[in-house]
Amino acid sequence: MNAKVSATMITQQTMDWSDYSTGIAWGTVTLFIGVIVGYIGLITAIYMQVMSLPVGMFIATLLVYLGFTVAHEAGHGNIAHEVTWMKPLERFMGWSLTIPFLILPFGLFAKIHDYHHAFTNEPDRDPDHWVSGNTWLKASFRAPTLALSYLYLTATRFKDDPVITQTHKSSLAYYAVTLSIIVGLIWSGYGLELLMVGIIPVFLASYVLGMLFDWIPHKPTRQQSRYQNTRSYLFPGLKYLTLGQNYHHIHHLYPRVSWYNYERVFNLIRPELEAKNAPIETLFSNTFSKKLPGFGKSINALEPSSVDGAHKLTLHVESIQRETSESVAITFENLNEKNLPFKAGQYVTVTKYLNGEAVTRCYSIFESPSAGKLSIGVKWVKNGLLSSYLNNELAVGDELTVAGPFGHFIYDPVTAKTSKLLTLIAGGSGITPILSIAKTALAMNSEGEVHLIYANRSIIDVMFLRQINELSFEYPERFSITYIYQKNHTGWNGETGYLNEEKLINMLAIHSEPEDAQYYICGPDIMKNIVVSTLQNLNIRSEHIFIEEFSQSTPKPEGSIHKVSIVLANGSTYDLDVAENQTVLQVATQEGVKIPHACGVGQCGCCMMQVTEGVSELASDETPGLLPGEQVRGLTLACQCRPKSALSLIEGVINE
Ligand code: FES
Repeated sequence: MNAKVSATMITQQTMDWSDYSTGIAWGTVTLFIGVIVGYIGLITAIYMQVMSLPVGMFIATLLVYLGFTVAHEAGHGNIAHEVTWMKPLERFMGWSLTIPFLILPFGLFAKIHDYHHAFTNEPDRDPDHWVSGNTWLKASFRAPTLALSYLYLTATRFKDDPVITQTHKSSLAYYAVTLSIIVGLIWSGYGLELLMVGIIPVFLASYVLGMLFDWIPHKPTRQQSRYQNTRSYLFPGLKYLTLGQNYHHIHHLYPRVSWYNYERVFNLIRPELEAKNAPIETLFSNTFSKKLPGFGKSINALEPSSVDGAHKLTLHVESIQRETSESVAITFENLNEKNLPFKAGQYVTVTKYLNGEAVTRCYSIFESPSAGKLSIGVKWVKNGLLSSYLNNELAVGDELTVAGPFGHFIYDPVTAKTSKLLTLIAGGSGITPILSIAKTALAMNSEGEVHLIYANRSIIDVMFLRQINELSFEYPERFSITYIYQKNHTGWNGETGYLNEEKLINMLAIHSEPEDAQYYICGPDIMKNIVVSTLQNLNIRSEHIFIEEFSQSTPKPEGSIHKVSIVLANGSTYDLDVAENQTVLQVATQEGVKIPHACGVGQCGCCMMQVTEGVSELASDETPGLLPGEQVRGLTLACQCRPKSALSLIEGVINE
């Protein structure tokens, strides 16, 4: 190997993305100077009447388009990077090149754009989700009005958000300046010039920017996972037309990298992107590369596609079926005809932004995996923000954030074949995963019998009654049901009252050899405890008993107590005292601090936080919600995080 080749290899091995996000970004400074010179030339030419207004309109559109990249880079702090004396100049560049946008103050844009990065493709919190939709036409109507939608969000959903409200003063100053310019120009008789060279170009450039920065890189705007929520699309020379935005993965994974370095970083991390199933496409698959899918064709963007089972999707509601007066069944659309894959008994988390906070809860799936549909059951809970919304306000066509599948409460028809009897014991809405298991067992295990014991307050509280009846018609020999109601009803001759040991033993006795059966239990804690102790008294082996667990209570403090400071995504801060045997989420919930969470057991990843200071450990070794690479990068899960020293935590993932 000659010395030159060897030196190149060493350089390639030691370079990483951070080498492209340091020092003054002279490429962006040059672009800024070019745009300013362009504006001076344009205004002079229009004033001297040596340029027609249509030509001026075209040039102004180009300048707004180019100027946006400077403002965008300034918003990310990518012109000065770590060079502090450059920071005021960076802000000056950002402010001056958002003036032509007329309604988009730089300070507000920078903050609201951070939300696009933090919540990419989330229907409620991604401000750029406005430019979504499956068709070019729909996106085309929305792209030119993206800035208006920012203002609408500022006045509505983000109206009390301290991160946004802190920009109001500078926004007022901006509007005073732009309004003065507009009034001054109209007053001086330049109204037509203002329209042709000032206002129309904003909408034309906004259209191009909305398409290039939002719709094209993120469509079909259904994936929220970090490697799938955007795409890279390759074609020679494309980076010059899009100012690098065709490598949108790089911008989202490493927002501190300057735009003219995207291609270099893309080449550097391409193996990682491919390993993580990131959508990488080309404009014309047959002419440029047969190996890459054509533009918009990568299944990694179109379907539930991820590594490590960590799907996070934005899904439309396909149907809502009322089950009882207090419960509904919700079915979600498939993506590219594929549903989110799951196993019988598992659950997903659903997130909706309600009353100023992102509320996430776990809901079990009631269909069998072979149904090819993702359907959940939702029981209304008193004072339950999300369950009330899903029961009373949700409409067909609405979008929700759905993540999963999660849970170890799994029925595997292959391993379960050794047991001839499957006993399913459900209380109330605990029937939801149990129904999925019953459907799967009856369809997949043609030999075994299934006995469902289903406890409810009263007959009108029975969820999925029609589906249970259909199963008993379809499998009369293999499927038996025992209902028990707390309240007696006229005409009801079956069991009444609370499920207790004696009643349960009687119910189990309709099948011989209960010790060989497998038992799946889901319902209120009090019922689960009775069922488990009864089964233990019957000497049922623990490996035959499966229990659905969703929650954990807070243990009494033991060991050293540490200060834990928390910064939530909306900017609010809290200080908590957390003992070494407690998790941050346990104490936060107790103290009313609303850290977004769902499963509480380290599986869903909803409570992910960045540790910026201090040492912590995870309560469990099994945390599929946190990948090993994420641990290395200093991320933790609030529901599993136990402090070993004073800690500082920030909600979400801080982009490097
Ligand atoms: S709440 Fe699910 S991982 Fe923490």
